[in-house]
Amino acid sequence: MISRVLIPLLLCFLGILSEGSSDASHSPVMGILAQPTAKGDHLYIAASYVKWLEAGGARSIAIQDDLTDDVELDELFQQIHGLFIPGGATDEMSYAIQYLLNKAVESNQEGHYFPVWGTCMGFEYLVRFIGGDDILQAGYQAENKSLPLEGVVRTSFLYSDDDIYQTVISRNTTLNNHHLGLHPATYWSSPSLQSVWEITSINHDETGRPFVSTLEPISDLPFYGVQYHPEKNAFEYATYPHTTLPYEAIDHSPEGVAFSTALARVAVHLARTTLERNDRHAYTDPDRFPYVYTYPQQVGTAFEQIYIIPKSGQSEVTRKSYLRNGDMSHIPKRSYYHIQ
Ligand SMILES: *[C@@H]1O[C@H](CO)[C@@H](O)[C@H](O)[C@H]1NC(C)=O
Ligand SMILES: *[C@@H]1O[C@H](CO)[C@@H](O)[C@H](O)[C@H]1NC(C)=O
Repeated sequence: MISRVLIPLLLCFLGILSEGSSDASHSPVMGILAQPTAKGDHLYIAASYVKWLEAGGARSIAIQDDLTDDVELDELFQQIHGLFIPGGATDEMSYAIQYLLNKAVESNQEGHYFPVWGTCMGFEYLVRFIGGDDILQAGYQAENKSLPLEGVVRTSFLYSDDDIYQTVISRNTTLNNHHLGLHPATYWSSPSLQSVWEITSINHDETGRPFVSTLEPISDLPFYGVQYHPEKNAFEYATYPHTTLPYEAIDHSPEGVAFSTALARVAVHLARTTLERNDRHAYTDPDRFPYVYTYPQQVGTAFEQIYIIPKSGQSEVTRKSYLRNGDMSHIPKRSYYHIQ
């Protein structure tokens, strides 16, 4: 028999009492660019970006880089509270991303707040979008380099938190992985860049050449860009095959991980602002614009994902036995969850 004390505890445990947490309006939705793989046969999003946004409290919808239909792009734009452009290696800015960036500009100019976040390639896209396609310099030696930020503007939005500030100025925490860069002198010779952003940190590559590592808005365009990878500290742990040697020089210290997730909350806060200020559509059509989850999109149960662990004597647990435990029939057909 279940005691009186246990019943509320159980209900809480199952999420039934957690009023509000089921209210989707408390969770902003980011549109995240899915770009072509190296072979070009499909599109991808590195899961660490999705996890990073989840750590900040946002869910994500994929934006297919090859979309060309304005009606569909308009519809997508209505479903998101912010645009996230991740790192990557897609030189050409697609029609889709340029269209959405123009929509973002238009929206902000009309007084409807709409933030854009760019990480690494995303940073470079933002700079090119405002400053022109040839504005970046090539040949930087800043690959697989974790650095402390220099010249950090403490009063800026991204670095005003004491813990974040202390970590970024004092530790090799921000991982860089780029050949292109924005030279500070280029910024100072570009009226268009200066009218949109201030530089809130810089860095030097291995040869001592400076590059801008953070741009924050001073205009009515809430566009934020970081040249480094804040998602990696908390969410990338790759090693070389059959070793424990880290594949990339990522700071996984408590400070590094805390920095990563704290900055995720700062980034997602921007999209929450859209949620509070605008009357954007709630997310409505999972078959049309499914969330990109880092786990199977389970509905109608308290747990969106569970791990099925074989009993000690069992060699494996079949998918069939997993399905028996839950009704998966409501999972949207186009649910993206398999991340290789
Ligand atoms: C950062 O790493 C460099 C080597 O790449 C090292 O010389 C430097 O002392 C480190 N800085 C800090 C603050 O740990
Ligand atoms: C990245 O740097 C670390 C530390 O310097 C090194 O061990 C690792 O092999 C490098 N990884 C790559 C892919 O170059």
